[in-house]
Amino acid sequence: MKNIVILISGNGSNMAAIVQAAQAEQWAQRLDARISAVISNRPGAQGLAWAQAHGVATQVVDHTDFAAEPQPREAFDLALMAAIDTHQPHLVVLAGFMRILTPGFVAHYAGRLVNIHPSLLPAFTGLRTHERALQAGCQFAGATVHRVTNELDHGEILAQAVVPVLDDDTADTLAERVLAQEHVMYPRVVAQLLK
Ligand code: GRF
Repeated sequence: MKNIVILISGNGSNMAAIVQAAQAEQWAQRLDARISAVISNRPGAQGLAWAQAHGVATQVVDHTDFAAEPQPREAFDLALMAAIDTHQPHLVVLAGFMRILTPGFVAHYAGRLVNIHPSLLPAFTGLRTHERALQAGCQFAGATVHRVTNELDHGEILAQAVVPVLDDDTADTLAERVLAQEHVMYPRVVAQLLK
């Protein structure tokens, strides 16, 4: 059985979709993997309680604990790597993990680090993607699963989910429809990567 570590910062609904796939009763729908741990950089991340309630080990590596270090970003990433590496994961899955990672971290997990981003990359890297897609008059929006490189929201595109933009969409309604597709796409991509 292959191990996965999932990194979150907030709600963790994509993490929950992956955990549910790994715990699915029906073999045909099951993601054949062990979710070794869910790790958050924020102690208050809602997804932590959900993971615990579903029998998944959780850990917090709080980035604010490293603020006084001479190189806080590097120090945090080293602590995060140490936490992740105790699980010897085949794949490290970023699921709403709101930290920019150092080149050392990215290199350490080369080939086994993936992210999900709520836009049809390469359009709309960064934040407020749905708001910007609406402002630009896009007729389609979506989400992308991609490998992680040193450039934010770049890296090989592994899968995309597309939804139409509706006339009365707000950033919130669009985000909700895209997120529902993320929950279908991300467990599937993880399963493929582990094959
Ligand atoms: C998702 O929209 C994902 O694409 C982005 O952050 C959001 C995380 O949502 N990277 P959740 O924490 O998985 O609910």
